[in-house]
Amino acid sequence: MSEAAPMVDSEYMAEIEKARRDLRALIASKNCAPIMLRLAWHDAGTYDAKTKTGGPNGSIRFQQEYSHGANAGIKIAIDLLEPIKQKHPKITYADLYQLAGVVAVEVTGGPTIDFVPGRKDSSVCPEEGRLPDAKQGASHIRDVFYRMGLSDKDIVALSGGHTLGRAHPERSGFDGAWTKDPLKFDNSYFVELLKGDSEGLLKLPTDKALVEDPEFRCYVEKYAKDEEAFFRDYAESHKKLSEMCFTPPRSAFSCKSGNKQKSLLVQAAAGVAVAAAVVAWAYLCESNKKIG
Ligand code: HEM
Repeated sequence: MSEAAPMVDSEYMAEIEKARRDLRALIASKNCAPIMLRLAWHDAGTYDAKTKTGGPNGSIRFQQEYSHGANAGIKIAIDLLEPIKQKHPKITYADLYQLAGVVAVEVTGGPTIDFVPGRKDSSVCPEEGRLPDAKQGASHIRDVFYRMGLSDKDIVALSGGHTLGRAHPERSGFDGAWTKDPLKFDNSYFVELLKGDSEGLLKLPTDKALVEDPEFRCYVEKYAKDEEAFFRDYAESHKKLSEMCFTPPRSAFSCKSGNKQKSLLVQAAAGVAVAAAVVAWAYLCESNKKIG
C-alpha cells in the first residue's frame, strides 16, 4: 500500500536540513558513502514506467525486498539509517534513502544534486528480478534501464556511480574496487574502463559492455576526457532516477515555482498597498475640495 504524501511545509524542510547534517556526519564517521549510494539506487532501480510500480518509495526497508539476491548486504545501510529516521520521524523512508544517496555523492567530492522532498512511502515490494544482473551484457542493461524510462546517456552516467565502493565476495560473488580511490567521487571509473583489464581493479561484465557497445562507448570516452561533463550529466541522471514516479508537491518551500509563488505574493501585496494609497489620496483631495 502507498501511504499519503508527506506535507512539505517549512517544518518538513527544516527536518530535511537537519537530517542532511546528520547524514554528513554518519557518512564521514562510518565511511559508508558507497553503500548509501547503492541503497538509494536499489530502492529507485525497481521502477517500471509502464505499470508505475516500484521506484524510490522506501519499500526496500522490508525483508521481502532487501532479501532479494541483488540486494545482498543492503540491510547494513538500512540499519545505519534507522536512527536518523527515528530522530526525524516526519521524513519518509523514501525521502531519507534518496537524501542519503545525494549526500553520499556530495561528501565524496561529486556534483551537487538537486533534492526535492515529498516522496510517499510504500509497503508494496516489487517482484525479484527488476535490478540488473551484473553477469549480462548491453541488451539486458538497456531492457532494465529503458523499463525505468531512462536513456543510454543515463545508463553510462549513472554507471559512473561505481567510482565509489567495491564488490564483496560474500554479497555479490564479485571482489574488488573499480578505482584506486573508492571513497572519492570522480571520473576515474571511466578512465580505468578505457585502460582495459588493470591488475587489482574490478570490471563487471556489465561494466565491460559500456566499452564494447558503440553507443555507450561514446559517453565513456567523453566522461573519461571531461570530468565536468560527467558531473553535469551524472547530477541530471541521478535526479531523474531519484524522482521516478514522483510528482514534486506544489509547495512554496520545495521548488523553483515556490519562489515564483512567493514573488507573486510580494507583488500582490505591493499592488494592494498602492491601490490603498491612491484611494486615500483621492479621498483627501475630495475632502479638501469640500472644505474649500
Ligand atoms: C548495470 C547496472 C549495475 C549493475 C549490474 C551493478 C552491480 C553491482 C554489483 C555486483 C556490486 C557489488 C555489490 C557488493 O558485492 O557489495 C555493485 C556495487 C555498487 N554499485 Fe552497482 N551496479 C549497477 C549500477 C549502479 C548504479 C546505477 C549505481 C549508482 C548510481 C551503482 C552504485 C554502486 C555502488 C556505490 C556500489 C558499491 C557498494 C559498496 O561498496 O558497498 N551501481 N554494483
